[in-house]
Amino acid sequence: MSHYFTNNENLVSETRELTYKYDSFSFTFLSDNGVFSKKYLDFGSRLLLETYLKNESEPLKVLDVGCGYGFIGSVISVVNNSYVDMIDVNKRAVHLTQMNIKNNKIKNAVCFESNIYESVEGLYDVVITNPPIRTGRETVLTFLRDSKKYLKPGGELWFVMRKDQGALTVAKKLEDLYKIEIIDKSKGFLIFKGI
Ligand SMILES: C[S@@+](CC[C@H](N)C(=O)[O-])C[C@H]1O[C@@H](n2cnc3c(N)ncnc32)[C@H](O)[C@@H]1O
Repeated sequence: MSHYFTNNENLVSETRELTYKYDSFSFTFLSDNGVFSKKYLDFGSRLLLETYLKNESEPLKVLDVGCGYGFIGSVISVVNNSYVDMIDVNKRAVHLTQMNIKNNKIKNAVCFESNIYESVEGLYDVVITNPPIRTGRETVLTFLRDSKKYLKPGGELWFVMRKDQGALTVAKKLEDLYKIEIIDKSKGFLIFKGI
């Protein structure tokens, strides 16, 4: 069975255009078969992004891990004038994000292929992620726990997870690394910030 996070180059391409507005900013995102939430912007991702933007307005250096077609990182880059790196293991997602950066004329963002943090170098102020629940608890924990190695002292980890997918148990497993707070919740989704 093929999941959105696997690379399936035989999957027929069927590009769609999704639109998004934040304040006075308008975006269009190309999406396609074989990537996460191809038909609409995911509710949890929107909640994460909008909660982050309500709380952070500084032009911080941000890493968007498992970026999909680049929704979260692209909007942060434009709205907060932030430098953003976006990474994903899915080649099609990386290609879409690179097109979305170009089409939205974003100057301070790049996207590259990386299996979790394998190709990441340097330190960030913020790691933000809607982690791939379907890859299993161990991968999700690696996404979240290993973020610490890529954060500057005092840096922040932001993530979204559904309560019924074990969000509170996962958050507990981060307490040796981070001071974890729930910043918002809606429709069963929790937004966490770890410092
Ligand atoms: C829940 S989706 C979120 C996508 C995007 N951030 C959004 O909000 O629309 C999780 C993403 O993680 C990516 N992913 C899964 N396993 C990965 C891995 N080992 N390394 C990097 N990215 C991975 C998937 O391809 C997918 O794009």
